[in-house]
Amino acid sequence: MKPVSELSGRTVVLGVSGGVAAYKSAELARLLVKAGADVRVVMTESAQHFVGPATFQAITGQAVWSDPWDARMPNGMAHIDLTRDAQLILIAPATADCIARLAQGRADDLLSTLCLARDEGCALMVAPAMNRQMWEHPATRRNVATLVDDGTYMEGPAAGEQACGEVGAGRMVEPADLLEAVLSHFTPKSLAGRQVLITAGPTSEAIDPVRVITNLSSGRMGYALAQAAVRAGARVTLVSGPTALALPRGVRRIDVASARDMRDAVMNNLSGTDVFVSVAAVADYRPASPSGRKIKKSADSMSLELVRNPDILAEVAARADAPFCVGFAAESHELDSYAQDKRRSKRLPLVVGNLVSDGLGSEDNLVVLYDDEGRHPLERASKAAVARAILEHISRLLKG
Ligand code: PMT
Repeated sequence: MKPVSELSGRTVVLGVSGGVAAYKSAELARLLVKAGADVRVVMTESAQHFVGPATFQAITGQAVWSDPWDARMPNGMAHIDLTRDAQLILIAPATADCIARLAQGRADDLLSTLCLARDEGCALMVAPAMNRQMWEHPATRRNVATLVDDGTYMEGPAAGEQACGEVGAGRMVEPADLLEAVLSHFTPKSLAGRQVLITAGPTSEAIDPVRVITNLSSGRMGYALAQAAVRAGARVTLVSGPTALALPRGVRRIDVASARDMRDAVMNNLSGTDVFVSVAAVADYRPASPSGRKIKKSADSMSLELVRNPDILAEVAARADAPFCVGFAAESHELDSYAQDKRRSKRLPLVVGNLVSDGLGSEDNLVVLYDDEGRHPLERASKAAVARAILEHISRLLKG
């Protein structure tokens, strides 16, 4: 199986209208290109007062369009041809004037004409950016309501300090969040209505108030799965050991430290869970009696007595009302046999195996999926792409 870039094969027309936030659209264009999209930029005339077409041309590697009479389009039909094979027009920033013209169905510049002339397969997503009073004005409220009625997806605006110094709603949603909205828009909702519980990251077992036993898990694999599951329409709870990662949009996170904290958080949030994915690198052992005070240096050596931690996945999978359970196996060698053993001993429908040298702490991963039908190797890819492929496999098994 070959994981693919999130937006490969997608064509997005990025409309830029004349607001200060236009400079952020250059970053948005870069993120869309990085995610694999074919990005065509269309600027209004006023947008070019804020940022130049050359910036977008360099980022996307494509011509930038703004003039409906542009002779570069061989048949003189830029207003139609630019969206013919596009699946999305994203306007960011969309000024109050741009929104008003879209609501009226005007066609007096290239961007508004493209929106009017697009066919059904091309959605329209709008990220407003304007002064807070312009946003709150009844005329803008009416225009936005009309666009929403027409099936337009509105992203934002966000609230905060504005370029004019005032504070309120009217800031353009940040480029990373707009990318997330685009990715969500294109993700099939294969987990719609499902509740997914995921553990991620390392656990941390206290030796004394300043020392712990932990491991090198970064949490990236689990967080990538949480993000992919939200995009696929699931309600997601992430029980996370200590990590430095940002919380993916739409995910509910419960922070824990030790394996026993993680076990309690999982059990307290299991009700209603359809799918449990145990990605966390849970410490199998913890110090038998952690010291309440900092241990002082004295003898030349010291021993630490360790006791077994609860096996969270085994406990969940053994329940009469167990959700669909997915385990991970991180091995240094003999991946196939150890992963299969874990699948059998914990009676799991699916185990994701990875060598620690491939997956632990890294940005990408190389995994093999093990289920009743055998082994399914995936190609090495970013953890986001691997997560998508794992979730596609899970939703196929759920349907089966
Ligand atoms: O966090 P990253 O840096 O992105 O790295 C990802 C990863 C390598 C940690 C991840 O891909 C992975 O393999 N996670 C499982 C690591 C592990 O602890 O495997 P294990 O073979 O020890 O455990 C088997 C399964 O039982 C796992 O699903 C584990 O979550 C679960 N387990 C283990 C022990 C325990 N006490 N409770 C558990 O629930």
